[in-house]
Amino acid sequence: MSSVASPQRVLSGMRPTGRLHLGHYHGVLKNWVTLQHEYDCYFFVADWHALTTHYDDPSQLEASTMDMVVDWLAAGVNPKAATLFVQSAMPEHAELHLLLSMMTPLGWLERVPTYKDQQEKLKEKDLATYGFLGYPLLQAADILLYRAGLVPVGADQVSHVELTREVARRFNHLFGREPGFEQAVEAAVVKMGKKASKVYIDLRKRYQETGDAAALETAQALVRDQQNITLGDKERLLGSIEGSGKIILPEPQALLTPAAKMPGLDGQKMSKSYGNTIALREAPDDVDAKIRKMPTDPARIRRTDAGNPDVCPVWQLHEVYSDEQRKQWVQEGCRSAGIGCLECKKPVIDAINAELVPMRQRGREFEQAPDMLRSVLAEGAERARETAANTLADVRQALGLAYRR
Ligand code: TRP
Ligand code: SF4
Repeated sequence: MSSVASPQRVLSGMRPTGRLHLGHYHGVLKNWVTLQHEYDCYFFVADWHALTTHYDDPSQLEASTMDMVVDWLAAGVNPKAATLFVQSAMPEHAELHLLLSMMTPLGWLERVPTYKDQQEKLKEKDLATYGFLGYPLLQAADILLYRAGLVPVGADQVSHVELTREVARRFNHLFGREPGFEQAVEAAVVKMGKKASKVYIDLRKRYQETGDAAALETAQALVRDQQNITLGDKERLLGSIEGSGKIILPEPQALLTPAAKMPGLDGQKMSKSYGNTIALREAPDDVDAKIRKMPTDPARIRRTDAGNPDVCPVWQLHEVYSDEQRKQWVQEGCRSAGIGCLECKKPVIDAINAELVPMRQRGREFEQAPDMLRSVLAEGAERARETAANTLADVRQALGLAYRR
């Protein structure tokens, strides 16, 4: 049993969309690559989530999943540092989803803003399904199954993490009160030893009477630092400070990913639906051709016309890829007609191609060795299963289902 909250565990999922592009890299993957060195990271392909909206065409599911994982690896997500897996390889997500569904009020799901938004946006699809309503609850199960403390998501997903917190709170409230909880807490207090137990009782009292947040934090740290008590007792002591029962499912926190500023080839945000993307493993010649074809300041018709970078999508790429000196070169050269547009595009082409070199190479290695890719995912699932099994054992126990096996 190990349900002490893990602030050091990070979990995030991505629906399988096939090949990723530079927008994904600058928006999400670069962040994952940093996080994997700082936290115990779990990254997974949310293929069941894809089915909630695309159940009518599963034909591309496998290819999209594999292409996307190759792109994760190409971008530098390291299977030795992070645990990578596919959601559908982990039926544990489905079991926890089912169990949570028993106690989740319908109204909570109907009120999640993405529910109506997505139905509006994807009008051509029939999303009046049970599965689609349950989308955020499946996501809650994804998160709670690993007792993740931090969930990197975009702003559009924050309401799902919020729902996850409510579901966890409700679950702990309903099932965290094992019979004899108070006595078990008192016994655990004694086990801390005289000095620590006195400090614990004082801090708990101070927090409960005045809501003193510092007292709460100090008390939690005190409990976590105890060497001689079991994890189960730690959970009871932690739960007792806040006046709840045992924390079986700790509440996660959203780790807001800053909105991607990556501009596409037309100056709009880079997105597959706008057809303005550069793929992570795009060939050098294609990068070259795509940038050459990019529109520039429409008023700059002849080479001798002065231009205005403010209305030019190429300038936006300079803002991502160029240092101050080169930005100044663009500003002055453009406004004075001192440089031509192709000349201006050249350093952008070079910068993007340089960024893609290691990605193409790593991507190729995995593409040429599908077995290696499968074993990365199999090992990831195996590691994930260990954590998941612990949580599910506690959840089954809490729900009176421990006789199951
Ligand atoms: N719903 C998320 C998205 O569309 C993907 C996702 C599924 C997820 N499960 C998750 C993200 C758990 C974070 C945590 O982007
Ligand atoms: Fe755009 Fe550069 Fe041409 Fe100016 S010189 S219009 S910034 S491409």
